[in-house]
Amino acid sequence: MINWEELKHIHVIRKLEGILAQWFHTEIFFVDERGAVRNYDPLDRQREFKNPLSAHLLPKEKSRAWIMKSMAEANEKAFKTEAPHFVWEGPAGVESVLVSRISIDNEFLGSVYAYSFLETEIPQEKRVAARKKAEEAGIDGEDFDQAVGKLRVLSEGERKYFYELVDLVAQEIVAFHTEIGKREDRIKNLNHQLGTRYSYDSMIGKSKPMQDLYGMLDKIKNSESTVLVQGENGTGKELIAKAIHYNSPRKESQFVTVNCSAFNENLLDSELFGHVRGSFTGAVKDKKGLFEAADKGTLFLDEIGDMSPTMQVKLLRVLQEGTLTPVGGTDQKKVDVRVVAATNKDLKEMVEHGTFREDLYYRINVINLVVPPLRERKEDIPILVEHFLNRGCKEKGVALKSLAKRAIEKIFDYTWPGNIRELENEVERIIVLSGDDARIPAELLSQRIREHGENSKVQGVRVAGKLKDALEELEKTMIKEGLRRTNWNKSRLAKELGISRAGLIMKVEKYDLDKRKLMRAGEVA
Ligand SMILES: Nc1ncnc2c1ncn2[C@@H]1O[C@H](COP(=O)(O)OP(=O)(O)OP(=O)(O)O)[C@@H](O)[C@H]1O
Ligand SMILES: [Mg+2]
Repeated sequence: MINWEELKHIHVIRKLEGILAQWFHTEIFFVDERGAVRNYDPLDRQREFKNPLSAHLLPKEKSRAWIMKSMAEANEKAFKTEAPHFVWEGPAGVESVLVSRISIDNEFLGSVYAYSFLETEIPQEKRVAARKKAEEAGIDGEDFDQAVGKLRVLSEGERKYFYELVDLVAQEIVAFHTEIGKREDRIKNLNHQLGTRYSYDSMIGKSKPMQDLYGMLDKIKNSESTVLVQGENGTGKELIAKAIHYNSPRKESQFVTVNCSAFNENLLDSELFGHVRGSFTGAVKDKKGLFEAADKGTLFLDEIGDMSPTMQVKLLRVLQEGTLTPVGGTDQKKVDVRVVAATNKDLKEMVEHGTFREDLYYRINVINLVVPPLRERKEDIPILVEHFLNRGCKEKGVALKSLAKRAIEKIFDYTWPGNIRELENEVERIIVLSGDDARIPAELLSQRIREHGENSKVQGVRVAGKLKDALEELEKTMIKEGLRRTNWNKSRLAKELGISRAGLIMKVEKYDLDKRKLMRAGEVA
């Protein structure tokens, strides 16, 4: 569909209309594909008439209808013909009209109607008949004759020029429409890329794993199923839980987070399900639980792997029956809550070891989302860094900073055991440290990032002294580095190093590679 409204702002078209009016006294009408006139409003009293005949025919209702009918019929012919233009007999019975087709890719979109001109002098009897017809429509006969007398008789040469100009109007409309279409496609495309390729809500990432994740989120946003989000520390599990809620039909109600590892069993019980007055010391009045607070909304059970076996049973019951009993109470309450759970533990393995209930596992694992760690989607690092840089500089009210090439390389090479949170903190840190400098040098990066990779090469290992000491030093370095890289996943590291898990644990103790100690020493984040 052509945007007819916009055409009146197109300079070329206005210019052409001006030329046609000035030299041929023609009025230009745009008729859409259904035969409706798009650039003439009978109520518009300001309209200046370019054509002496239309100046008399258009103001009177009856004769106006002739022109309208003529335009609609000419448009129908334009629909059927293949010729770019044709001459049409005018509605007053004496004049000629040129009709130029507007078509794009064989699709007919309307016509340009150029009113009106004469091909030859009009025979006397035709002129008399036309005058009579006009008088019946309430037009003064004298005026009508005068108007017809002012119509231009176009010689063959002039006609050729005239047709070309009218065709040009039609072509300009096509060009405008095609250009707009292209632009709209481009915008749609960009929008699509922005919308689904680079981010989802406040989640950033354009890598394949993130694309897959966005695709999953789109699929589940209208579902009521329980979702289990699994991923390492700082990969964005909570962000995903929020995206699920705020894209779901429940978005108007509460999103309630409860960190299951932050409470002991009794507290979590009352926190989740509420309690009645006097059910335990300190329960001085009835208290609603978070399940009730999340009614009609979403309850985010974070660190669900840390829930005690007793609490697991209670949770399962609520999920299955949709009712709960507050601590110390007897009445059952109905709740309508969608649960999204998250954990960085391997729940499947916990089920195998009997520390997580199998029935609960299957109840919450209806939809399973695995968040990829940053090291598996390194291509996201640059846009994440840019995002955090932009945000950080804005928050601090400083001019936008950039990273030195070497710093970007270092950030790219590092394996980010703490994932996005660690990256976020690092960017935050270097913004502060860089002070007034617009460019952030690699030297400002944390030691572990700056020196990463240098340890994985044999460089720096002593080449003199006892072989045993050198080997031990190398072993310690490799294990320390490996622990950091795998986020203290000893099973995986043992496999990578080709030793047993028990063997690795012994060595970790021997070299004193306790996570907390290393953190305190600032060797890991
Ligand atoms: N894809 C992402 N784009 C932008 N920021 C992200 C993305 N993923 C995570 N973040 C940011 O990283 C930080 C950690 O995210 P979040 O708390 O959701 O992770 P988590 O998996 O719940 O972490 P934890 O395991 O520590 O609970 C937050 O500040 C979050 O805003
Ligand atoms: Mg979290």
